[in-house]
Amino acid sequence: MIILGIETTCDETGVAIVEDGRKVLSNVVSSSVELHKKYKGIVPEVAAREQVRVIIPVLRETIFNFKPNDIDAIAVSVGPGLVGSLLVGVETAKTLSVVWSKPLVPVNHLMGHIYANWLMQNSKLPEFPLVALIVSGGHTDLLLMIDHNQIKWLGGTLDDAAGEAFDKVARFLGLPYPGGPEIEKLATSCQRLKTKFQFPRPMIGSNNFDFSFSGLKTAVVNYARQMSDFKIQLSTIAHEFQNAVVEVIVTKTIKAARKFGAKSIVVGGGVAANKLLRSQLTVHGSQLGIPVRFPTIEYCIDNGAMIAAGAYFNFKPVSPEKIQAKPNLYFS
Ligand code: KG4
Ligand code: ZN
Repeated sequence: MIILGIETTCDETGVAIVEDGRKVLSNVVSSSVELHKKYKGIVPEVAAREQVRVIIPVLRETIFNFKPNDIDAIAVSVGPGLVGSLLVGVETAKTLSVVWSKPLVPVNHLMGHIYANWLMQNSKLPEFPLVALIVSGGHTDLLLMIDHNQIKWLGGTLDDAAGEAFDKVARFLGLPYPGGPEIEKLATSCQRLKTKFQFPRPMIGSNNFDFSFSGLKTAVVNYARQMSDFKIQLSTIAHEFQNAVVEVIVTKTIKAARKFGAKSIVVGGGVAANKLLRSQLTVHGSQLGIPVRFPTIEYCIDNGAMIAAGAYFNFKPVSPEKIQAKPNLYFS
């Protein structure tokens, strides 16, 4: 089955064509991140206007070598996300579904991030039961997946998401948006393996699978403010902050995998691009004998292919009149 997936929840406009939920035949992503840089964060109105401008060119480029008859269904990310941005994708998907007479499948954007791990057609399928970790700019969640349609939410952040913490700390340190890759670059330039100070690891030992990153962000700010030469120490601060975030995420994910007897761990979302997170979770997973899967970097960021994959493995079409943008969609 060949599905065309559309993703417009935040600042990316992505359209892709995927065969059987695994083989990416075409994938185009346009990002408005450069437009937001001067504001040091996403401006929803700017994002949506840019998406109105680029959705048709992105769609045209994606389907350049295809005819409507080659496509079996349309999938669209219906939330969570920014309402103006979501509407662009949902209305486009609705129109294509009606004009081409194709089934229309709504997909939860967060599940899409998980399904980015199915996009590697030459690797083994992730084995169930699995623990799924979503770490993005807006979310930090742990889920137990018994099967494709049997999902239990285990916990999530009580305040800032992991990516949001990276972005806020970066902004405070005077780094450009998005902050995650900038902090990672700085942290890598730090020569010290161990720093003289330690930031807190919030909720690392708590008896649940929740997270909290806002206190950690405040600890970084307080530490940096009391230093006269904090510009000199930037890389050490970035290094220790990244260590703290990664240690908490790895500890909780491994705890969940152990508790629920997971046969694999899959990770999705923008922060899944972080090299320290990728290596630490892989090492700790292998100590437990559990393979840890990360999407390739291009599928960690928002894209239409992960939405097409999500639709293939949970194929529940709805009529075009019924589909709606759901800015606050979560796990039900
Ligand atoms: O999944 P995503 O593209 O958008 C949302 O759905 O939120 O994630 C974007 C987030 C941003 O907060 C960005 O700073 C973070 O992912 N990010 C990273 C890295 N690359 C992107 N965080 C840490 N390390 C990275 N290498
Ligand atoms: Zn996302």
